[in-house]
Amino acid sequence: MQTDSSFTFVLFGGTGDLAMRKILPALYEAHRAGMLAATGKIVAVARHEEDRGGYLQWVNEHVKAHVSKNGVDENAWSSFLDRIEYVKLDLGRAEDFVKLRDALQGQSGTRVFYLATGPSLFVPICRALASVGLNQNARIVLEKPLGYDLRSSNAINDAVGEIFAEEQIYRIDHYLGKEPVQNLLALRFGNALFEPLWRREWVESIQITIAEELGVEARGDFYDNTGALRDMVQNHLLQLLSIVAMEPPHSMDSDSVRDEKLRVLRALKPIDPRDISRVAVRGQYHAGVIRGTSVPAYATEPGVKPDSTTETFVALKVEIENWRWAGVPFFLRTGKRLADRVAEIVVNFRAVPHSALGASALRAGANRLVIRLQPNETIRLYCLAKKPGEGMNLSSVHLDLAFDQFFKEGQMEAYQRLLLDVINGRLALFVRRDEQEAAWKWVEPILNEWAASGKPKPYAAGTWGPAAASAMLAQHGTCWLEEEN
Ligand code: BG6
Repeated sequence: MQTDSSFTFVLFGGTGDLAMRKILPALYEAHRAGMLAATGKIVAVARHEEDRGGYLQWVNEHVKAHVSKNGVDENAWSSFLDRIEYVKLDLGRAEDFVKLRDALQGQSGTRVFYLATGPSLFVPICRALASVGLNQNARIVLEKPLGYDLRSSNAINDAVGEIFAEEQIYRIDHYLGKEPVQNLLALRFGNALFEPLWRREWVESIQITIAEELGVEARGDFYDNTGALRDMVQNHLLQLLSIVAMEPPHSMDSDSVRDEKLRVLRALKPIDPRDISRVAVRGQYHAGVIRGTSVPAYATEPGVKPDSTTETFVALKVEIENWRWAGVPFFLRTGKRLADRVAEIVVNFRAVPHSALGASALRAGANRLVIRLQPNETIRLYCLAKKPGEGMNLSSVHLDLAFDQFFKEGQMEAYQRLLLDVINGRLALFVRRDEQEAAWKWVEPILNEWAASGKPKPYAAGTWGPAAASAMLAQHGTCWLEEEN
């Protein structure tokens, strides 16, 4: 489907890493698929390139490599470049914003300002846009991290809120744009089968893992001041948790979905600082081997302080204080330089209350739903079945919904979906201010405690993190999914 109307997409941070890896490739894909209105324009804003010619050369040299698994369609690429304008802008120079305003004059349709910059620039950019009247009839997209803690995030939200109304603000969390996350909503709220079981009476525990093989790459400096709790838990993991645990919304409109997510975030059991070592594990990778290649320790990565106590791994036990979920542990986990790249949600249902089929029917491995977000997006339901032949021998089997087999076409990267949503004015997959505040409030006791004392437990790169993360689950008589196999 094509965007509803014409648009101007103004990209601040036009030569940044995010523009190069995600935003421009996603816009190209949307363009190639015929999803952008023919008159829509992209206006890149940056300091480094002198003029449009220089910028297009940069795009050719840097962006093409990140485009499409299926290679670049040269015709589509060339018409994509035709959409791009460029404005050289120095944030400190008020006259440059006048230049930007002039460049945008005469362009009709929706206006989007995408701030693919560090959060310290959000407020200065918004103020400068307002000073030349560009905050009217516009949408603003804010990338994460939005702040460093509750206070700094509130300060940014307050300042941006003076310039843009909440309905104009799109806070992006790209995990919400992933296809299987959408499918989880369809699965839960489109089928009568799961919803009656989706509660404490039938669910024993839930695991949500986002594991990465990559280290901190070229972002050591940023990451060392951030850590996994801020980089992944406060946003991506808590957003996934709220989608898994939310009540059925009355419709899929933006506020119905976000109201329900907010209720979950507000119902998270507050963490008592005295309990932190029981419910939270932090780790930092040491040198190790991933897929046969030696990789260095975190503390020796460029930009990282040699005595850094920043966590590159977090595992948490989270509880939700409401009727649906009271007493059900949610185990969240994320880390860099782990044994595999995988993001998945595992719903462990309770075993049958009595097994007429013998003890083997009670064993683990069945009664489980695994929603794999990446790679190989699938939803897999594990059940027990009888093995062929004599006797009642049971085995775990699975029913699969493998998206790429069912739906041969139309798969979309998260950024592509979210950018189209911004252009079309759909807010449901963007984080509202109150959700963000609730998430910061919940993580803050852990941030404070970790900043004040102790240090992360070491783990070798290429493993699944510190042993303490497994011990935490063992206390509840369970283990992480990969430990079962
Ligand atoms: C980003 C984090 O938000 O998400 C990165 O800042 C992380 O540190 C990335 O690598 C993971 O996203 P994905 O989609 O590759 O799993």
